[in-house]
Amino acid sequence: MRRERSSASSVLVTGGAGYIGSHTVKALLEAGYDVVVFDDLSRGHPEFIQGVPLVIGELSDERALSDVFTEWKFDAVLHFASESLVGESMRNPDKYFRRNVAGGISLLSSMVRAGVKKIVFSSSAAVYGDPESVPIPETAPLRPLSPYGESKVFFERALLWYDKAYGLRSVSLRYFNAAGADPSGRLGEEHDPETHLIPLVIRAALTGEPITVFGDDYPTPDGTCVRDYIHVSDLAEAHVLALKALSEGLETTALNLGTGAGFSVLEIIKAVEEVSGKKVPYLIGERRPGDPAILVAQCARAREVLGWSPSHSSLREIVETAWRWHSREG
Ligand code: UFG
Repeated sequence: MRRERSSASSVLVTGGAGYIGSHTVKALLEAGYDVVVFDDLSRGHPEFIQGVPLVIGELSDERALSDVFTEWKFDAVLHFASESLVGESMRNPDKYFRRNVAGGISLLSSMVRAGVKKIVFSSSAAVYGDPESVPIPETAPLRPLSPYGESKVFFERALLWYDKAYGLRSVSLRYFNAAGADPSGRLGEEHDPETHLIPLVIRAALTGEPITVFGDDYPTPDGTCVRDYIHVSDLAEAHVLALKALSEGLETTALNLGTGAGFSVLEIIKAVEEVSGKKVPYLIGERRPGDPAILVAQCARAREVLGWSPSHSSLREIVETAWRWHSREG
């Protein structure tokens, strides 16, 4: 039996219980969409999406996917479900090609069978590898340095062919460094293991255990790597706008999501010290293999195409919301 839902636009969100997925689910509900989440809960948190229908399943399980597309009628899919640790992908590419590539293709097959013709895909700045120049435009060559980045490039390219052959239109959103937490304090970043800089710096402030800065001999103003940190609520908003743009006829495209401003590792440490009022102990360690010195987005296209511009991504707001989330009780 197919469940017809209200007249609102209905979307399937894979990986909707994860960090960026759950913030986007919240934004979608606020924008009036009906949402169903498909998540294997390998790293998702069901408590982040309370009240939203959740189907627990793996993308590789075509039967489970087909049941979802039979049970509900969707206008579009937002595809977040993905393995996303660069370092792990170097040691275990098989996992990344099976889960991100084969799993993603299984999703596309189900969409084609069900006649769902719009998808917003979570891509990454990792598609660019070590860029020739910054800020990086979307037209920069795609030269990933890891199986993780390669899996994102592969899927973006597959999407171009699914458009040509099946009329499936897509927006690939290339996130720079997602950070921060929902201002409500109800959602935030909860990875195990945690590898991202801001949560680790906050942990160092809370525990007094030093964080290791991966290299201070890069060709940057203070010698530490520079990244473009973008608030997760701004990313969520971009997904809602991308969905709307696809509904209004936007052609398949890929867009950078960043602020265009970069901050070094030492600047992040300083920002956490200011927000928390605590000292952050740190050590200088070796460079982490595969880390480009500077990654900053050119983000004019997202503004032109979606009318999107970040409104929560001052470093202060990113660090304040992350601090509130990580230092919460319980
Ligand atoms: N860093 C440290 N110490 C740590 C952790 C990180 O110095 O303990 C540094 C890194 O070397 C890097 C910066 O902090 O310079 C940010 O590191 P993250 O691991 O937080 O983020 P990345 O820039 O490595 O990765 C992010 C996303 C990936 C995406 C990548 C694009 O998390 O999914 O951007 O290159 F692939």
